[in-house]
Amino acid sequence: MVSRVIPVDPFDLVIFGGTGDLARRKILPGLFRRFCAGQIPDAAAIIAAARSPHSVDEYRALTADAIREFSGVALCNDDRLQAFLKRLDYVPIDARGIDGWAALAARLSPDRVHAFYFSVGPGLFADLAERIHLHGMASPDCRIVVEKPFGHDLASARDLNATLAAHFDEGQIYRIDHYLGKETVQNLMAIRFGNMLFEPLWNSQYVDHIQVTVAETVGVGGRGEYYDRAGAMRDMMQNHLMQLLCLIAMEPPAKFDPDAVRDEKLKVIRALDPVEPHHIVRGQYEALDGEHPGYREAVNQPRSTTESYVAMKVHISNWRWAGTPFYLRTGKRLVARSSVINVMFKDAPHSIFGPEAGRHANLLSIRLQPNEGITLQVTIKEPGPGGMRLVDVPLDMTFAEALGPEGEDPPDAYERLIMDVIRGNQTLFMRGDEVEAAWAWTDPIIAGWQARGEVPKPYDSGSVGPGDADLLMKRDHREWRGIKP
Ligand code: BG6
Repeated sequence: MVSRVIPVDPFDLVIFGGTGDLARRKILPGLFRRFCAGQIPDAAAIIAAARSPHSVDEYRALTADAIREFSGVALCNDDRLQAFLKRLDYVPIDARGIDGWAALAARLSPDRVHAFYFSVGPGLFADLAERIHLHGMASPDCRIVVEKPFGHDLASARDLNATLAAHFDEGQIYRIDHYLGKETVQNLMAIRFGNMLFEPLWNSQYVDHIQVTVAETVGVGGRGEYYDRAGAMRDMMQNHLMQLLCLIAMEPPAKFDPDAVRDEKLKVIRALDPVEPHHIVRGQYEALDGEHPGYREAVNQPRSTTESYVAMKVHISNWRWAGTPFYLRTGKRLVARSSVINVMFKDAPHSIFGPEAGRHANLLSIRLQPNEGITLQVTIKEPGPGGMRLVDVPLDMTFAEALGPEGEDPPDAYERLIMDVIRGNQTLFMRGDEVEAAWAWTDPIIAGWQARGEVPKPYDSGSVGPGDADLLMKRDHREWRGIKP
């Protein structure tokens, strides 16, 4: 299969926080990979701006290290790297003052797209927006890219939307949820709306329930301070799992265009019922045989009641989904890294094979990571004589195998999303009203925990999470599927 790479027009991309972790791990390596793929034209400029007083050469050397470490060894030959580094510039800047801003404005070339990536803490978003405006860089064709967390609750998200709206139109604001840049997350839409096979069955008449699991083996790492204020609900559920839920549950948009897709996602969020307290399980991981620190130790808060795991049953009150529960769960330090969506279909309405054939239902599993692919569990006859015994077998497809070499190395989420910013395509970015609606649903859940003084259930590092999450399913005569060691 031949990869089709369409080069973009020359652009200037300014990365605020150009020396930070996200720039080093994701943004710069991602740009390098796009450069190697031939998508970034020679005339494009990447201008990093940060507080440290580096020279351009020093910054290029730092970037070279980051690219060698994070971009994938096969790509990183030295000629390409040197050619890429020539496109890099660096401007020391004071995000809250005046130093550096005139120099930055002078580096921008006229008559091309200017994109400003806010790869900094949310405390600086407003300062950056104001200064871009003040220094004459907020042209109608410019765009800004805003990282999560987008607010801490509804009120702060509204404030942030209002601050950005004072300087930029909604069509210029690209709010990143990197899950939307993942190849397999986009595949959800391809599977649903590119095939005739699934969509007619995609509703409460045929679907018993849907499970969404995003399990991680990592802990909170060095982000304890942020994480302990956020917890799994704000860090993962309000954004990444909510986005997955929207793509699974939304009505078919008329077109794959930004507002058509985001209008449908918004309707899903607005149709979510408030969640009953007994339909939520929160957990916090404990140390494993002294090998890894427990959560409280990791965040250095001996009495923290922040959850590193959350599981819940949610209902969508609309014609398509009334009566079909969605079970969502996510957590850190679990037994395996596994993001998977399981669509469990109902049993056939009547078995012609009698009770001894047992009960069987189809299951569609969409593996988002790792080992991206889909499995459809179908029921067939168990081989051999002696009557009609039925057995479930998987129709299994791993995308990398089905697509050949091209499928083995899909672009990283950030590569895809940055190129969409340059092209001016907002389909895979969150609109302001979507983010606010997600917070409006999340806030009462968190407020309820606080009002009741709820403490998360401990769970062992390396396990599948707290036992109460299994009970959540067992009460409904169901079980979780999807985290495999
Ligand atoms: C981030 C969260 O948004 O997503 C992290 O802040 C989490 O806590 C990460 O680990 C997971 O992303 P991925 O791409 O590794 O699944």
